[in-house]
Amino acid sequence: MTTFPADFLWGAATAGHQIEGNNVNSDWWARELTMPGMELSGDACDSYHRYHEDIDLLADAGLTSYRFSLEWSRIEPTPGAFSKAELAHYRRMIEHCFARNVTPVVTLQHFTTPQWFADDGGWLAPDASEKFQRYVTEATTILDGVDWVVTMNEPNMQAAIMTAMRRMQLAEGGQWQSPTVEGTEETKQTHSDFLTYADPEIGRAFTAIHHAARDIVRARTRAKVGWTIAAGALTAAPGGEEKLLEIRYGKEDVYWEGSRGDDFVGVQAYSSQEVDANGLVPHPARPDNTLVGTSYRPDALGMAVRHAWAVTGGVSVMVTENGIATADDNQRIRYTTEALQSLQNAMTDGIDVRGYLHWSLLDNFEWGHWEPTFGLIAVDRETFTRTPKPSLAWLGSVAQANQLDAAVAV
Ligand code: BGC
Repeated sequence: MTTFPADFLWGAATAGHQIEGNNVNSDWWARELTMPGMELSGDACDSYHRYHEDIDLLADAGLTSYRFSLEWSRIEPTPGAFSKAELAHYRRMIEHCFARNVTPVVTLQHFTTPQWFADDGGWLAPDASEKFQRYVTEATTILDGVDWVVTMNEPNMQAAIMTAMRRMQLAEGGQWQSPTVEGTEETKQTHSDFLTYADPEIGRAFTAIHHAARDIVRARTRAKVGWTIAAGALTAAPGGEEKLLEIRYGKEDVYWEGSRGDDFVGVQAYSSQEVDANGLVPHPARPDNTLVGTSYRPDALGMAVRHAWAVTGGVSVMVTENGIATADDNQRIRYTTEALQSLQNAMTDGIDVRGYLHWSLLDNFEWGHWEPTFGLIAVDRETFTRTPKPSLAWLGSVAQANQLDAAVAV
């Protein structure tokens, strides 16, 4: 029976746009209204008004940490004009975490930006970093007592989304397919294509923006600061060894390198995928594929953590996301058990891991789609009633015992 370290954080993660509802000033809101094939976030889970209940459910189950994001487009709806009321809203969320002995992990930017920022050229605009720094400076005014801050969520996925958007604009009548969703047979090729050719220059630009934000957080708070990275747990099929190195560099390693000097790095792993001489190999069709078309590969977590540790040169790891899109909650428990076993093996081998935050607390808006359910808690989208799934109690019992073997049977 192996115990996790005494101060190991056990929690669940969410992101503002996926749960709050009515983020009308964000670039994603505009995208949902205009892109063919997109479902709308709408009221989402109405967590903007129901965050108390969400944090209470998490805490009552025995979890000790909640990762959530601040919504930039609420805080700065027009350039340079900051909403004191919205900042106070997020401060109240932080305070409610403290009241429930829940450690908040605060993400400053999770995929969405204000629409005005996108209209101005987004992350590739020459003054993108200055604009982000101005926002980050304001955001730090509510972070008193917060120990963990993430500057940006998955900049490497954001780069993939930017590439996808450019291609969409070029392709006549193209259908939006979220990069986190594998899609149909016809869209799969395009999907792996744009992910394959992620440009390392974009990664270097994001790294500079992250470092500038990191410096502000360090100067103005006492939090540990890092960013989170989408880890592909890529492996080489026979003959794919060289291609693996090339692809992985632009998609991931340039970002892991950007973590050097951070206080921690957020590892986000869901599945594993092969690379052959031609590029990423689409996930084979199997009965146990997830609702986003990816292979059932809980061992991806241990693989990803080991890779992060190697490329960052030993930056402490926080698992900021890991989970499975499935309608079968027993499958979620099986997956998470195996993922945690692979994590524990990596820790036994000497990798410093500070916590495990499951994706996601709630069934939420999966970037254009509602069908893939990742939540420990189901949400009725008419009434917003929350119904905890057995996996919530199960993960809470792992957290309370601080070991896997003592988990309750569900
Ligand atoms: C993102 C989440 C997303 C999850 C599942 C990650 O890429 O950070 O926002 O919902 O994966 O696809």
